Amino acid sequence: MAVIELKNVEKIYGKGDARVEALKDINFEADKSELVLIMGPSGAGKSTFLTIAGSLQKPTSGQVIVNGEDISKFSDKKRNNLRLNEIGFILQAYNLVPYLTVHDQFVLVDKVKKEGNLSKEDLDKLLKDLGITKLVKKYPNELSGGQQQRVAIARALYANPAILLADEPTASLDTQNVEEVGKLFKKLAKEREKAILIVTHDPRLEKYADHIYEMMDGKMSQKK
Ligand SMILES: Nc1ncnc2c1ncn2[C@@H]1O[C@H](COP(=O)(O)OP(=O)(O)OP(=O)(O)O)[C@@H](O)[C@H]1O
Ligand SMILES: [Mg+2]
Repeated sequence: MAVIELKNVEKIYGKGDARVEALKDINFEADKSELVLIMGPSGAGKSTFLTIAGSLQKPTSGQVIVNGEDISKFSDKKRNNLRLNEIGFILQAYNLVPYLTVHDQFVLVDKVKKEGNLSKEDLDKLLKDLGITKLVKKYPNELSGGQQQRVAIARALYANPAILLADEPTASLDTQNVEEVGKLFKKLAKEREKAILIVTHDPRLEKYADHIYEMMDGKMSQKK
């Protein structure tokens, strides 16, 4: 069974002259243990797709099915719980809380979500894999873009979600870190059976992907 499925999803922003058909009849599914890339030019609808898949916004029509349940029928409370427990986000911007140290970003997750987060050992291992162990006492504005990005990746993984949605997670990383992050995503998909959806322009991630989709003018087609 697909962990996440979109059926005939459309998204229309605005009205009249401002009307934009951001998503046109999207059909998509991802299984556990799969790493899926969504590629395409600016304005194609990639972020719209990802935020709808993650229930941050609702489609204009169509269904989003997570673990076999149509989430468009969920109450706000149920949607919040789903986001908290099943879905991890790495968004394009504003990832970290500016007045918390790296260490406290994880403490915040513990406060919001009390169970099911990674153990201390697993978190230490994750920080090591991402090369950010020495940064735990720093604030976000003391970190480079690439370091902030890796902390945001660690924070999303810390909550141990079944589905991980990432919007341009390697945008400010150099080649070595892109390879590390690509390997880590692939490993998490395979070893921890996560479904990982990554929106990216970065061809360096292609070799880690099980499937690749291309978005163009709101339409999605499968390339791999
Ligand atoms: N909140 C919004 N209100 C109105 N139009 C929007 C909104 N968000 C996105 N759009 C429009 O929908 C289309 C798709 O935008 P989206 O952000 O999904 O593209 P994208 O593929 O993520 O682009 P990028 O690579 O630049 O991040 C664009 O034409 C955009 O202008
Ligand atoms: Mg975008």
